[in-house]
Amino acid sequence: MSFGAKHLLGIEHLDSSDITTLLDLADQYADRPTDIAHRSVLAGMAQINMFFENSTRTQASFEIAGKRLGADVMNIAMQASSIKKGETLIDTALTLNAMHPDLLVVRHPNSGAVDLLAQKVNAAVLNAGDGKHEHPTQALLDALTIRRAKGRLHRLSVAICGDITHSRVARSNIWLLGKMENRIRLIGPPTLMPSQIGEFGVEVFDNIEDGLKDVDVVMMLRLQKERMDGGFIPSEREYYHRYGLNAAKLAHAKDDAIVMHPGPMNRGVEIDGTIADDINRSVIQTQVEMGVAVRMAAMHLLAQNRRDAKQAAGVMVRC
Ligand code: NCD
Repeated sequence: MSFGAKHLLGIEHLDSSDITTLLDLADQYADRPTDIAHRSVLAGMAQINMFFENSTRTQASFEIAGKRLGADVMNIAMQASSIKKGETLIDTALTLNAMHPDLLVVRHPNSGAVDLLAQKVNAAVLNAGDGKHEHPTQALLDALTIRRAKGRLHRLSVAICGDITHSRVARSNIWLLGKMENRIRLIGPPTLMPSQIGEFGVEVFDNIEDGLKDVDVVMMLRLQKERMDGGFIPSEREYYHRYGLNAAKLAHAKDDAIVMHPGPMNRGVEIDGTIADDINRSVIQTQVEMGVAVRMAAMHLLAQNRRDAKQAAGVMVRC
């Protein structure tokens, strides 16, 4: 089992074998998520979760994952932290670093902030979403969900639909699905589609019926209003009419196409509630379940690299 990286900052710099290693381990965790034997994996290690942006499922999922592996997990309420008193991100990071955590899980509203922080601390850093940039564990949990539902993670046709411009989930998924040799279709209004996106080897559609034709996977995205600085759509009603996933639009995809959404979901804006709840098509709850398994695998592999590096340093000192 080899996984080269010290941190998990994005999918961009992983190769396909790293991705497969992580998913294979996550698969095992998904089959036996609560096995007591897992408790030794991070025993004696400290995990600090720093969420500078609101989160429900990602933060809970990292916390459960760490606890199932036996780590001492601490959540810092960033809203009430010294950042509010004017301390910079780097000073906060250095303060935490002095407490010698092993794993730092960070979500931040600015793209690149998590990379910067990783350069300043000794801990292994996991990016839990930075601005519009990357959300690697989301793409990995999506990949595991797809692989388990479809039996493979290559040569599939995957449509990602909605607010692509503001979505770190879309970016990480484009990297990952591309590295695993899938066909990617991006669907959305031109106002929510980055202008250079064609260079990523994707097909772009502004008509959802055309974009969904014969796809295996339909991934819907939320309108990321918190990252919008103007009017990108005429109205939510109009958006739902043109891009909201309902049974009639889904009928253009393959009969066995699965429906995904990273959450939080806005029913009646990007997706019809009955489609989201249809257990024959929607794998949205499975995504949440796979999130814990993927985060267990990611922390397991980074912790293992950390132990190996410490051991190697110890050997060098003794020599
Ligand atoms: C996503 C995020 O935060 O980027 N959600 C998540 O992690 N489950 C997508 C979103 O907020 O719409």
